[in-house]
Amino acid sequence: MTGLNKVVIVGLGLIGGSLAAGLQKAGACQKIIGVARREETCQQALKMGVVDQAVTHISEVASELGKGDIVFISVPTLTVRAIVEQLKACIPSDVIITDGASVKGSVRDDVREIYGHFPANFVLGHPIAGSEQSGVEASNPDLYVKHRVIVTPMPQNNAEAVTAVRAMWQAVGAEVLEMEVDDHDVVLASTSHLPHVIAYSLVDTLAHDSHNENIFRYAAGGFRDFTRIASSDAIMWRDIMLANKRSVLDAIDLFSSNLSRLRALIDKEDATEITGVFTRAKFARDRFTKMLEHKAYSSPMQNTEEKLVVYTVAPGGQIKGRIRVPGDKSISHRSIMLGSLAEGTTHIEGFLEGEDALATLQAFRDMGVVIEGPEQGTVTVHGVGLKGLQKPSGALYVGNSGTSMRLLSGILAGQSFQSELTGDVSLSKRPMNRVANPLRDMGVTIDTEENGRPPMVINGGSALKGINYEMPMASAQVKSCLLLAGLYAEGETTVTEPAPTRDHTERMLRGFGYNVQREGNVVSVKSGGKLTGTDIDIPADISSATFFMVAAAICPGSDITLTHVGINPTRIGVVNILRLMGANLSLENEREVGGEPVADIRVQYAPLKGIQIPEDQVPLAIDEFPALLIAAACAEGKTVLTGAEELRVKETDRIQAMADGLTALGIECESTPDGIIVVGGQLTGGTVESCHDHRIAMSFTIAALRASGAIQVNNCANVTTSFPNFVDLAREVGISLEVNCA
Ligand code: S3P
Repeated sequence: MTGLNKVVIVGLGLIGGSLAAGLQKAGACQKIIGVARREETCQQALKMGVVDQAVTHISEVASELGKGDIVFISVPTLTVRAIVEQLKACIPSDVIITDGASVKGSVRDDVREIYGHFPANFVLGHPIAGSEQSGVEASNPDLYVKHRVIVTPMPQNNAEAVTAVRAMWQAVGAEVLEMEVDDHDVVLASTSHLPHVIAYSLVDTLAHDSHNENIFRYAAGGFRDFTRIASSDAIMWRDIMLANKRSVLDAIDLFSSNLSRLRALIDKEDATEITGVFTRAKFARDRFTKMLEHKAYSSPMQNTEEKLVVYTVAPGGQIKGRIRVPGDKSISHRSIMLGSLAEGTTHIEGFLEGEDALATLQAFRDMGVVIEGPEQGTVTVHGVGLKGLQKPSGALYVGNSGTSMRLLSGILAGQSFQSELTGDVSLSKRPMNRVANPLRDMGVTIDTEENGRPPMVINGGSALKGINYEMPMASAQVKSCLLLAGLYAEGETTVTEPAPTRDHTERMLRGFGYNVQREGNVVSVKSGGKLTGTDIDIPADISSATFFMVAAAICPGSDITLTHVGINPTRIGVVNILRLMGANLSLENEREVGGEPVADIRVQYAPLKGIQIPEDQVPLAIDEFPALLIAAACAEGKTVLTGAEELRVKETDRIQAMADGLTALGIECESTPDGIIVVGGQLTGGTVESCHDHRIAMSFTIAALRASGAIQVNNCANVTTSFPNFVDLAREVGISLEVNCA
């Protein structure tokens, strides 16, 4: 029994009846009273047991009601006014009143007019649930389970009343959200009211067209799926359209103009632009489907309700097989960026369909670039040229991806429009001044939050000038950002790196026919050139291959081959470091694909020893340290990492996250400001936190191979940012991994 006293439900249709049934099932209140105009409805509700008492007019029970009781108005939108008038006449002011109407602005205005002010105990609400069935007979106690109820409190509301209404909905299993009244009506106009307008209109059009007399006989699944909602209660929906007239008209106008535009494209047979509309829509719908299944975390909405994905890994095992891990993340980002800025078409194979690279892809779609795919790693980008991007209609959301945000900021600095870059909770804590400051030196105004944190607002439209920039840290993202801005800057843009960093941007610019100069550690571009669309074959990502390289290196009896892996000299720190530790690792079938060297990497088990990691290898293995520290934990003796302070500003502070996890698994280690010391030993079982960092999660997964007990890794949803099929491949090569969602 919760704290709910009596609940009176005025209107015993599907919505009211289901609330009554749900409250009964939960035993959530002292008494449920139903009010229905028709005596038969009252009898039916009593017979079904959804209410304890049923009356035909609220005045019959008004004298029983007092403080803490709730009256829920569940009648069609345009009838709410009449009910509110009845309530005002007979209900004491300390009774809480709430409603379920689909439009909130009209109810707010009616309530205010009837009472002469907005009563503190009147809480507006809207359960987002229903079905095509109606009437008390259709009542379903589980209708609200895991459904959303939007409460739209007014400033005049008493906080206790709002809490009581929330508690009532939570008691029947609903998830309660809050919104402003006007926002609610605008959002619902687009997401619910407009689809109903279109469905009713389409069926009406087809049903009345004499040529289509037989339409329903021949109509296939598409028609059925699309028009399901045209079977909803016609009068209820008529009332909703009238009550939310302004917002509905705005939504219809926007849709009509887009439909006319699509008509013109079909008329002109403009295949590319039609592809643009359909691919954008398909991508958005696929993402929505995933969101509903809680598979992706990466839209802003999803981010707040991220599913807790937990990996449980059984100890022991052997790593065997021949596998190809997904495409390189850095190259995937750049292929979309340069493909979009090129003239002509770019075909990409081996594209990484992970959340980070998809965020970049979506950002360019949002700027009007037509992109086909990804379809099993194949993407076709219809380039718009260096000056062809369009202002996006909202902020560009790049999820967890630092590479997207930093590289995009360079491109956006050169555009004529203002843009905003936003990201998820983790990205919103990462430093952006490292790109914003040199871009400011080039002449663009950039606003960030305090200490250079995202969102970044980039005020394009200023003339950029080339600069000579000495990078204070070894960062490929900063270098790439400035080179990309340099494509738009007057004169030459020169970046000096303190140590070599990955050079995919330079290689790919050349692949697109753009001249890039390098002398020693200085790289430069001049504006005025153009990019020409090309074909790109993306090698497998050495950073993803690393988890299985280390897995085989630590696990007796292992022998694995990772095929078609990119072995760009600026990325092979992991190979060098593992070899220094004594790993039995060979590069086979070395070749060059589309300007990038690749090889099959074979790793067989051999005992590892602890080493002092050479500092010149640090930038060349910057993403591989979480996994390498697992190798260190399994090596004999001490491994010392220095010169790696950059690890502290990755998706999480990777030094701290690894130190905490290793300590939890019984390994002696000590973090230092710029690195860590790990003493090899016996890993125990235990629970570790990934800190929502994909690479930490995967590293502790492979640690279980050498642990004495099972390892549980918490918060692994972000593995999909870089390695969407990690779990399948891990199982394929011999890791016993269970995934649970909380
Ligand atoms: C990347 C550069 C590196 C790396 C990141 C990808 C790139 O970041 O850690 O995962 O694609 O340019 P920094 O530039 O911050 O070192």
